[in-house]
Amino acid sequence: MPTLQLDLGTRSYPIYIDSGLFNNSDLFSSHIRNKRICIVTNTIVAPLYLANIKEKLTNFDVDEIILPDGEAEKNLANFERIMSHLLANEHGRDTTLIALGGGVIGDITGFAAASYQRGIDFVQVPTTLLSQVDSSVGGKTAVNHPLGKNMIGAFYQPKAVIIDIDSLSTLPEREFNAGMAEVIKYGILGDYDFFVWLEHNIALIKAGDKDTLSQMIEKCCQCKADIVASDEKEAGVRALLNLGHTFGHAIEAEQGYGNWLHGEAVATGMVLAAKLAVAMNLLEVSELCRIESLIKVFDLPLLAPKTMGFDNFVRHMRRDKKNIGGKLRFIVPTAIGQSEIRDDVTVEILQQIL
Ligand code: NAD
Ligand code: GLY
Repeated sequence: MPTLQLDLGTRSYPIYIDSGLFNNSDLFSSHIRNKRICIVTNTIVAPLYLANIKEKLTNFDVDEIILPDGEAEKNLANFERIMSHLLANEHGRDTTLIALGGGVIGDITGFAAASYQRGIDFVQVPTTLLSQVDSSVGGKTAVNHPLGKNMIGAFYQPKAVIIDIDSLSTLPEREFNAGMAEVIKYGILGDYDFFVWLEHNIALIKAGDKDTLSQMIEKCCQCKADIVASDEKEAGVRALLNLGHTFGHAIEAEQGYGNWLHGEAVATGMVLAAKLAVAMNLLEVSELCRIESLIKVFDLPLLAPKTMGFDNFVRHMRRDKKNIGGKLRFIVPTAIGQSEIRDDVTVEILQQIL
């Protein structure tokens, strides 16, 4: 039984969250329609999990693409590499891609699935906390361009999301903490009780308690699934999921992809969004302090890099996909558990907080 279901009519799909799922060959098989599979993964994840998963797929004709690791590899060159591999190995429309890895692998594989022969099936098998709570769910797929993050991509939903929480045991602490930024995001943007739950469960989360992690991941996936089900293509409420991303993407692009982790940039971005809200008299200073405290507990950065001046921020933010009619748009928290989209942020306020 799936843990959750993302309801999108004929494109609905199950999300499984549990320990030991990589050993469940029936689960994988049940979401693959035909004989051929291509697993897309990277040089870090392949030695950890590829053989185990391939072993469970003995009834299929499986090959793999192992990409270099890192955010900087989420690019058009590797997208082309996937296309070339699929063509050279005569994959047809009946192939299913499996994205085995973090958000980088999930995003580029999803975009490849959306594009190859105008669309083939894909299954998300996320192995980082960030990808388990956010990027594997909701069908945003993309690659980066040197001029902007996630600028080339498509909305394209997977056939299933399989989250084996055991994969977190091999994740470096810095990566785990980066994932916590997206977890905290759900609390700030729309769920006060979840924010409080996080404040109360810090020790168990840090200790990697499996029940606590399962509960936490399920809560995030449920929140994301609800939002995506009501606004798949980000015409409205889905934009709230970008809390902290307007500032965060600017930091990532300016620092060079991969130098700041995505989650780290989002953490600082959320602090800046909260400061913006305080400067606009939308948020109490005490709530900003609570947000900063929870972010700090997970060793995430509160301040933007010193080299990141106002002009650099604005240059990158002008390319933000949320902007309409050339106007910058920001997601701001109006309380812990509440947020809104604003396009009335003045240059003076931005200068003040940046
Ligand atoms: P990532 O994919 O680079 O993974 C982080 C690091 O962990 C990498 O070095 C990876 O090889 C390694 N890794 C992965 N699984 C591991 C495991 N189980 N054990 C040990 N190491 C492991 O980064 P990420 O944080 O997972 O994802 C960030 C990306 O996700 C960004 O490109 C971001 O734009 C994207 N994103 C997309 C969405 C979306 O909705 N599509 C949402 C949020 C973020
Ligand atoms: N991570 C933002 C979204 O999926 O909409």
